[in-house]
Amino acid sequence: MQTRAAVLHGVGQDWSVETITVDPPKVGEVLVQWKVAGLCHSDEHLVTGDLSIPDQIAAQMGIPPMLPMVGGHEGAGVVAEVGPGVTSVQLGDHVSASFVPSCGRCRYCSTGRQNLCDAGAGTLTGGMITDGTHRHFLGTGDPAKLMAKVGSFSEITCVAEASVIKVDADLPLECVALVSCGVATGFGSATTRADTRPGDTVVVVGVGGIGINAVQGARLAGAKRVIAVDPVEFKREKAMELGATHTFESMEAAMPAVTELTMGQMADKVIMTPGVLHGELMALGTQLAGKGGTIVVTALAPMMQTQAAVNLFELAMWNKEIKGTIFGSLNPRHDIPRLLSMYREGDLKLDELITRRYSLDQINDGYQAMRDGTNLRGVVVHG
Ligand SMILES: NC(=O)c1ccc[n+]([C@@H]2O[C@H](COP(=O)([O-])OP(=O)(O)OC[C@H]3O[C@@H](n4cnc5c(N)ncnc54)[C@H](O)[C@@H]3O)[C@@H](O)[C@H]2O)c1
Ligand SMILES: [Zn+2]
Ligand SMILES: [Zn+2]
Repeated sequence: MQTRAAVLHGVGQDWSVETITVDPPKVGEVLVQWKVAGLCHSDEHLVTGDLSIPDQIAAQMGIPPMLPMVGGHEGAGVVAEVGPGVTSVQLGDHVSASFVPSCGRCRYCSTGRQNLCDAGAGTLTGGMITDGTHRHFLGTGDPAKLMAKVGSFSEITCVAEASVIKVDADLPLECVALVSCGVATGFGSATTRADTRPGDTVVVVGVGGIGINAVQGARLAGAKRVIAVDPVEFKREKAMELGATHTFESMEAAMPAVTELTMGQMADKVIMTPGVLHGELMALGTQLAGKGGTIVVTALAPMMQTQAAVNLFELAMWNKEIKGTIFGSLNPRHDIPRLLSMYREGDLKLDELITRRYSLDQINDGYQAMRDGTNLRGVVVHG
């Protein structure tokens, strides 16, 4: 079947909206008609090259080139066709994307760490998770890969059953899409990975689609102070609306205030969620945390970056810890429905997160707005 998709052909290029061909689902696969796709910064990293392995290096590593790739890993849609052997969803079910697949059986899934599922290993390269072959083809006949094996910037894609999670059909699909990456990742970074406790002082660095949900998570976990840092005034206003107690335009500006507010003890938790985590940002990021403090690294750094400015003496002597996280260290199959139930009860704010809606043809305008800092989150609503 034919459908329309936003495809990235090369680093530094715009998303190209074009017709692609999608093959029917094979064993363990489903066709999903995506209704809403969130514009997460991780797709922007493909465009800038921070997340795209250069072809030459890929060849040296013995892996196929990453591009061309259909973008989009934050999404919600409806199951349009089910392949043989699929048991967790049926035709017509509403589903959330799971950008980290969860097979349910590997060492990590079976020990409550679905965010580390082995099926996620080749998620940025190659073909289907199921058998490695391709289902999506450009007009030229060349295969197109899918971002995180989801590809929600296409109206329809064929994905592994492990990449979708059934959700209640009465929930707004816009909210489901947001939860599938940004909400879960930010919320989990503050709650599960940072383990924020009542009374804590938490600093969130970068208030985009991820950071705003770290703010919400910290507030719901009972933090006494939630200090949001972002150079954009509009983001700081949004942070105050959704649970921050203080805001600052930079980590430099936050430093004396955090010192004063905590009487020199500094933050218990620091969550790093800027658009790009350049290594030098870790200098102030780690300094904002006090003795025994935790620094959670959620934002993506350029893939080839190997240096970070961290005072290792202070890290050891102040007994601090720096932790990475993918998907906020949550379990997609349990936590996507859990977060949606918190939305249903009115505890988690989701409607407030969307600044603008775009058609697929307007996707480059959506990403320009991210670069300009004018969207908390933009979403593509497929026609
Ligand atoms: N670990 C994961 O599983 C995971 C999942 C999704 C996204 N991410 C990553 O999280 C990061 C944030 O994504 P997003 O979609 O929220 O991005 P975004 O572009 O919507 O938001 C980033 C925010 O950071 C702010 N910012 C930039 N530099 C800053 C600085 N030096 N200090 C303070 N604020 C700064 C920007 O003004 C912006 O508001 C990205 O790197 C993204 O790829 C990680
Ligand atoms: Zn994302
Ligand atoms: Zn698994």
